[in-house]
Amino acid sequence: SKTYRIACIPGDGIGPEVTRQARKALDVAANRFGFSLDWQDYPFGAAHYLRTGEIFPESALEEMGGCDALLLGAIGDPRVKPGELERGILLTLRFRFDQYVNLRPALSFPRVPLPVPLPEGRRLDTVVVRENTEDLYMGLGGRAEGGSLSFSVDARRAPYELKGELALWTTPPCPLAAQVAVSTRPGVERIARYACELAVRRGEDRVTLVTKANAVPHLYGFFEDETARVAAQYPGLKLEKENVDACCYHLVRRPDAFGVLLCPNLFGDIVSDLLAGLSGGMGMAAGGNIGDGLSMFEPVHGSAPDIAGTGRANPLAAILSGELLLRHLGEHEAADAVGGAVTAYLEESDPEGLPFELGGTSPVERSGDEVASRIAG
Ligand code: NAD
Ligand code: IPM
Ligand code: MN
Repeated sequence: SKTYRIACIPGDGIGPEVTRQARKALDVAANRFGFSLDWQDYPFGAAHYLRTGEIFPESALEEMGGCDALLLGAIGDPRVKPGELERGILLTLRFRFDQYVNLRPALSFPRVPLPVPLPEGRRLDTVVVRENTEDLYMGLGGRAEGGSLSFSVDARRAPYELKGELALWTTPPCPLAAQVAVSTRPGVERIARYACELAVRRGEDRVTLVTKANAVPHLYGFFEDETARVAAQYPGLKLEKENVDACCYHLVRRPDAFGVLLCPNLFGDIVSDLLAGLSGGMGMAAGGNIGDGLSMFEPVHGSAPDIAGTGRANPLAAILSGELLLRHLGEHEAADAVGGAVTAYLEESDPEGLPFELGGTSPVERSGDEVASRIAG
């Protein structure tokens, strides 16, 4: 029978707690549908870093490149300087494997109330298509105490190489910092195309571009123009534009206002947390980082240090990220079984039996078992 090699980085905080539940679900699904998952475990994260000083060795990255997919919990720990591990592990993976799509569906679930109720008969079914390799996330910049800052850029970024230098100084000297956001034609083209194709597959007649060209015209004006060129190739689609501030406002008033939301990297990060909240909780929001090489599946949420170790984490976002992973492998029946089991658990459980985030008292492990037992069929 078919065996897939799946790399797994449980990571920090609640990462290992929720990843364990996702693995359990995927193993049961694989068993039922006649394939197997050969898990390759990687310990990277805060504990490993604090013990060994190692963040993410090149050799591990190379090995992972040979896997069929990667399942990740969450990276980040209050004992470590913010960004050190997040950039060193999570963003390194997104950039190295050129995972240019960050796909983040926001859905209504049975018996999960939205904080903003929808009109009768409506449900939330929105998807954030977040550009995942450019914008302010490229790490290009620096800070200086002495009034003079210069940095050079030398980034080998598929499908282009980026080089350059920037020098800035203040008179009189004062501390300063700068970080450069970049957008390129191939970078926008491929994400815009993905968003348009997705809208067509969903049977929708529009894509909404989340922008801020009124304040940041060079960067987001370019993003708008490049997206418009791509969208023009889809006669059945209308390209709507919404400034990110207004978009957030509309979402809070009507969470179901949009279908496909095409977002530059930073706006997509923010809007996906907003939608997670609007869909009923951070622990319900799944995601995939998709590219032409290794793709990585992880919940939208982070390591939640405030609840780590308490059993209060909701594992459903991680499990639903596992569903996306199975779809990516082409194992659609198994993916349907995982999604169906989450739905059945939510429908059948008494209120006490739901995760804490959903008003119940079910510890993370038990919620995982409830889902796994429903996948077994
Ligand atoms: P967070 O998503 O970890 O937590 C935000 C809030 O949501 C917290 O109150 C938390 O308890 C709650 N929450 C998150 N996931 C939950 C779940 N599954 N069940 C129940 N409640 C849940 O965001 P943060 O506090 O900004 O970040 C904490 C750390 O995680 C930081 O180090 C940050 O850099 C990192 N982070 C990592 C990722 C990732 O690995 N993909 C994503 C976001 C944040
Ligand atoms: C996410 C996270 C990351 C991001 C952080 C941890 C770097 O918030 O996956 O949404 O900003 O992309
Ligand atoms: Mn985020």
